Amino acid sequence: MKFSLFTLFSATALAVVSATPLAPRDVYVPPVLYPHNGTVWSVGQRHNVTWDTSDPPVNITNKIGRIMLRKGGLTTPVILEENFSILLGRIEVTVPWVEDGSDYQVVLFGDSGNFSPLFTITGA
Ligand SMILES: *[C@@H]1O[C@H](CO)[C@@H](O)[C@H](O)[C@H]1NC(C)=O
Ligand SMILES: *[C@@H]1O[C@H](CO)[C@@H](O)[C@H](O)[C@H]1NC(C)=O
Ligand SMILES: *[C@@H]1O[C@H](CO)[C@@H](O)[C@H](O)[C@H]1NC(C)=O
Ligand SMILES: *[C@@H]1O[C@H](CO)[C@@H](O)[C@H](O)[C@H]1NC(C)=O
Repeated sequence: MKFSLFTLFSATALAVVSATPLAPRDVYVPPVLYPHNGTVWSVGQRHNVTWDTSDPPVNITNKIGRIMLRKGGLTTPVILEENFSILLGRIEVTVPWVEDGSDYQVVLFGDSGNFSPLFTITGA
């Protein structure tokens, strides 16, 4: 009984949320799939950063993507790639000449930013 009441409540809450009028343009930053935790990149290598584009909204405010590098929880000025369509789902980047570390992340920017998990860069 408790369960069905809860389900009913959830369904109602969901319906209310869905009924809220959508803004004409949607903020869209898809989640980063690669690099993931456990990825190791070597300086100078080429790698495809990939992200999930399975469910893009119809109207995206900013389709132009940019990928930046983060280290130790701070976004660095290093731009890995920019001026590509966020709908591509992947973009090839060259691993920059940075110090070794296991606390790197990439940030995919569209309207705002999505961080990848922590990964490792070695070989400087
Ligand atoms: C998307 O934008 C177009 C033109 O601005 C508009 O006609 C359309 O209704 C919008 N669609 C959605 C789902 O917001
Ligand atoms: C990146 O993806 C493209 C398209 O699938 C492929 O042609 C290219 O070889 C890939 N690059 C690397 C470094 O894996
Ligand atoms: C990206 O596009 C902006 C605006 O068009 C331009 O100023 C910038 O130089 C471009 N960057 C690259 C790397 O192409
Ligand atoms: C990911 O890998 C790093 C080492 O590169 C590790 O310190 C961290 O705890 C791992 N897990 C997550 C969720 O980032």
